[in-house]
Amino acid sequence: MAREQLRLVLLGVTLLSITIIFCPCGLLLADFGEPPRLLVEDNGASHPLRESGGISPRLSAGVPRPLAGANAPAEAGAAPAREPAPREAKAGVIAAKAGISRADSGGKEAKQKMNIEVKPFDQTPLGEKVDLYSLANSHGLKAEIMTYGAIVVSLQVPDRQGRMDDIVLGYGNLTEYLAKNPYFGAIVGRYGNRIAKGKFTLDGVEYSLAANDGENHLHGGIKGFDKVVWKAEPIKHRDGVGLKLMYLAKDAEEGYPGNLSCTVTYTLTERNELKIEYLATTDKPTVVNLTHHGYFNLTGCQRDILGHEIMLNADSFTPVDAGLIPTGELRLVKGTPMDFTRPTPIGDRVGSDYEQLKFGGGYDHNWVLNGGGRVLMLAARVYEATTGRVMEVLTTEPGIQFYCGNFLDGTITGKKGIVYNHRYGFCLETQHYPDSPNKPNFPSTVLRPGEKYETTTIYRFSTRKAARLR
Ligand code: GLA
Repeated sequence: MAREQLRLVLLGVTLLSITIIFCPCGLLLADFGEPPRLLVEDNGASHPLRESGGISPRLSAGVPRPLAGANAPAEAGAAPAREPAPREAKAGVIAAKAGISRADSGGKEAKQKMNIEVKPFDQTPLGEKVDLYSLANSHGLKAEIMTYGAIVVSLQVPDRQGRMDDIVLGYGNLTEYLAKNPYFGAIVGRYGNRIAKGKFTLDGVEYSLAANDGENHLHGGIKGFDKVVWKAEPIKHRDGVGLKLMYLAKDAEEGYPGNLSCTVTYTLTERNELKIEYLATTDKPTVVNLTHHGYFNLTGCQRDILGHEIMLNADSFTPVDAGLIPTGELRLVKGTPMDFTRPTPIGDRVGSDYEQLKFGGGYDHNWVLNGGGRVLMLAARVYEATTGRVMEVLTTEPGIQFYCGNFLDGTITGKKGIVYNHRYGFCLETQHYPDSPNKPNFPSTVLRPGEKYETTTIYRFSTRKAARLR
């Protein structure tokens, strides 16, 4: 009997010890699973990265690596763990103006409603009607997206005090977008970034594209996907409200072969993300590289972006020539001003005496994402200390173009009369590498009939407390 009592006492002590040791960890893990609050604290050190995405068939060859060994990852973000992507309810068409109650997402605040509204914006000189959709999640994030260029016209996210600001560059009306738009907020295609001399050969046939950037082809040509009117369909995801945009690029349009049927779905999620899903199919072999060209300024467009701290999950980048065409080399960033494996203010080294920065007039390069191109993973994290805003970029793409607004020169006045001076916005364009159609050692951008082009990129927003500044 005494023995039995002793056994029970020992069992009790063991259980108590286990509870004391593991309970705090359990609580921490449980915390990660909570729906995002308006002010999501992020200490920038050990962010839980638990996303996964599909593998694009054309990426099965994998991503080339530089010859030398890779650097050790500097942040938790450099070696992300994975979790299944949030399950989405079967997308269904919802009527514009139909609010979706907060209860749908199972959250606690129930203060605001996920919502999507539409209003006529304007029309193009060809008489095409352009609509403006307003998406809102239950935490107060708002995105305005127009059907011309699938452009994100505004994006309101909270700072660490909960104050909402528009953190993207753009205009308040269509006329100004038509007059001069350096791709503010647009979907870029059929091929994002440059193709050398506007030429490539596919299956023995040479194709010629417009030279709209010196002697090179840039961002899909003269009338790329940023300058066409997309068909739109509001959708409801279990995880947020979205807008499905569709465009059929005709065979030979801008010189590219094949009718390319494209669908880009923006979703404003309940996790404070702007998620972009790209889908395309073709009826002839072609090349495809779609991206989003948002210009971000996490201060709410109060000043330039040089104080923003950026981390890129990339040990190498693709150096370019003077025309910003990759040379084909994959160069390690270590020991160069291109090294953003540790968070560094954009302005710290942008003026360095480094040939690549001279060619780009600053940062305007493709970084090769560590382990990129296979599953959805962290590509970049940007932090703005005065507002506490944090933006993370997750993608299934193998590369990211970090462009720091070098061509902005104060000649554009955007929304609210704000003058967009030099380096007033930065872009993080997830992509396949520039000029891939002419670079056999880069991951392929060829899409063939019967294959599906499928990629996902997420811009995720949170804030960090000032007290947690490093
Ligand atoms: C990309 C290019 C830049 C520039 C901008 C738009 O980021 O790499 O060189 O063309 O788009 O101005």
